[in-house]
Amino acid sequence: MEAISIGLLGLGTVGSGVVKIIENHQEKLLHQIGCPIKINKVLVTDLTKKRDIELSLDLLTTNALDIIDNPNIDVVVEVMGGVEETRRYLLQALKNKKHVVTANKDLMAEHGSELLTAAAENGCDFFYEASVAGGIPILRSLVEGLSSDHITKMMGIVNGTTNYILTKMSKQGSPYEVALKEAQELGYAEADPTSDVEGLDAARKMAILATLGFSMKIDLEDVKVQGITHITEEDLQYAKQLGYTMKLIGIAVLEDDKVEVSVQPTLLSDSHPLASVNNEFNAVYVYGEAVGETMFYGPGAGSLPTATSIVADLVVVMKNMVLGVNGKRIITPQHEKKLKKPAE
Ligand code: NAP
Ligand code: HSE
Repeated sequence: MEAISIGLLGLGTVGSGVVKIIENHQEKLLHQIGCPIKINKVLVTDLTKKRDIELSLDLLTTNALDIIDNPNIDVVVEVMGGVEETRRYLLQALKNKKHVVTANKDLMAEHGSELLTAAAENGCDFFYEASVAGGIPILRSLVEGLSSDHITKMMGIVNGTTNYILTKMSKQGSPYEVALKEAQELGYAEADPTSDVEGLDAARKMAILATLGFSMKIDLEDVKVQGITHITEEDLQYAKQLGYTMKLIGIAVLEDDKVEVSVQPTLLSDSHPLASVNNEFNAVYVYGEAVGETMFYGPGAGSLPTATSIVADLVVVMKNMVLGVNGKRIITPQHEKKLKKPAE
């Protein structure tokens, strides 16, 4: 089979990780998919920017139409971020029968239903594993691995930036601003870190987790949110003296068709397993009626961990292409169609 051709929207922290994994794991990917992956075009804002990957200059473009309207591109990988512009690009790409892989939780929390419906109507795959908990395959675990169970609760740390900041403030006494700057330099924070530190990023992820875990449409407005901006080093030191650790915790609970989802700073006893999840790492407990308690742990942000989830989605899209079953398997729009609203 000929190479499967992809277009990347974005070549920042995550996009450059995707390029590295595709290049470094070529042989393994070829073995898994049965044909090579070819990077056809990459959208950026600045063609002259110095980048830490070597990519032929003629692959770069500043015109999204070179990707979304390009008849030679099979799959669009969206790693540019943003909502309205990105939504338009992806709807157009789907109309042009291109499969989509995205890491964009802002977009999925706000327009997930619309995009998944458009994908179904056009017979396209649409996957977004990287949008929640970076390198942890939590979405696929919910809709595949735990599909036979009735999930009643999910709880955990789903934002790497705030976990990094709280860890540095509490363990090293770093000032908030210094820790935030480091998280930005390490590529964990959003382009505008306000959504990280005010808890919105975690709220979006909890909305996505609750939607998939409970098979109910949970909107961002349904999530109660409080961030970490008001927490001081003194608060953390005081908590430490008393044997507690502060974490930004997301909780989603389903009880009798009623769902409650929240994100807030929470004091955990030092012996609680989530208290030892540090730096950019994330961890999510999933409670199922049959399975009991499961825990998923790993890097929640950063270039290569996040790119691992993107490329894993790409592998599924491409295997589906080889089998001719796109739009019909796992995390599909069909799943989304069955969703109901939580009881008032
Ligand atoms: P980033 O480093 O800021 O990279 C964004 C890339 O998109 C850059 O290459 C930029 O071009 C390009 N871009 C942005 N707006 C554009 C526009 N309007 N037109 C053309 N190109 C545009 O962002 P990132 O950290 O990789 O994050 C990308 C997405 O992944 C976001 O949705 C984010 O929420 C999500 N995500 C990030 C992480 C993480 O750890 N960073 C983890 C999970 C999910 P230039 O290079 O020319 O500036
Ligand atoms: N800014 C996000 C975080 C990136 O810190 O968790 C991963 O989604």
